[in-house]
Amino acid sequence: MSVNLKGRSFLTLMDFKPCEIRYLLDLAHDLKAKKRMGLHGQALKGKNIVLLFEKTSTRTRCAFEVAAREEGGNVTFLDSGSSQMGKKESLEDTAKVLGRFFDGIEYRGYDQQAVVDLAKYSGVPVFNGLTDLDHPTQILADMLTMEEHLSKPLHECKVVFVGDVRNNMSYAWMFGCAKMGMHFVGYGPDELINDIDKEILMKSKEVAKETGSVIELSSNPESLKGADVIYSDIWASMGEENLIPERVKLLSPYRIDKKMIESTGNPNVLFLHCLPSFHDFETKLAKEWHDKGIDIREVTDEVFRSRHSVVFDEAENRMHTIKAVMVATI
Ligand code: CP
Ligand code: NVA
Repeated sequence: MSVNLKGRSFLTLMDFKPCEIRYLLDLAHDLKAKKRMGLHGQALKGKNIVLLFEKTSTRTRCAFEVAAREEGGNVTFLDSGSSQMGKKESLEDTAKVLGRFFDGIEYRGYDQQAVVDLAKYSGVPVFNGLTDLDHPTQILADMLTMEEHLSKPLHECKVVFVGDVRNNMSYAWMFGCAKMGMHFVGYGPDELINDIDKEILMKSKEVAKETGSVIELSSNPESLKGADVIYSDIWASMGEENLIPERVKLLSPYRIDKKMIESTGNPNVLFLHCLPSFHDFETKLAKEWHDKGIDIREVTDEVFRSRHSVVFDEAENRMHTIKAVMVATI
């Protein structure tokens, strides 16, 4: 089946057919191989992309900037302190203005509706660089990394997301697994499992029925058995920092350590993490909490640096996959 994504926005994987996600992954593999040979395309020559960030970022911002430049495009960066958006100008008006200047808009912020509205009013492709509900470009990078390191197809893989099962990464994985026929387990405490958005779970399970995927949530350590990927994220997402003490109480038993990795029974299980990660006390935040007797690490340094961990390949793949999304849609 031929795939044409020109003009499409990338707001959530739920908007894409499995063959379209396959197309983006194949394109990303291809663009990565070309870069390794020193070849850069001109697919975005003469194109302008604006990056809107209402939350902080290292990987996503840099991935969009480098990817666009490597394909001949230009980028403009705006953060919440340096534009009128939301303060003196509505999102609708901002979108209408940006659509006149730019060929693509990346947005990172809070409400998923913001990316939907930006796409609706700008008339140009909009890319979701993370919202409170989703992080679809991250999942593409994670899948690319799995394909590089695992010797079986995605639909035969089991991904166990450990920790805050009601956050944007967990939801993004539910969508990704459902679409690609994979087995998803959200492993975390019942208190957080009970707080999951019921509509997101229902929609993921509906898609899962069509693709042969399994979507499960569990607080039972037995659910780790047979995992191909153990996936982790920080315990309190951006904007939730005030919840750190209560999350640490809930999630300390779910800190990923060597014993948890071994309990999968898979000697070659991969450890993936979207990053940034608290795996030691070398960050200001981890150190401050540690001084107050609170350990906010979601993973031990031993696992983070172990042979199971492919987190920096994964981080690099943000760039190749984001490049694929822009090349395919602009
Ligand atoms: N994984 C990720 O989105 O990283 P940044 O917050 O640094 O963009
Ligand atoms: N759940 C995290 C993901 C960071 C990439 C957050 O939203 O802060």
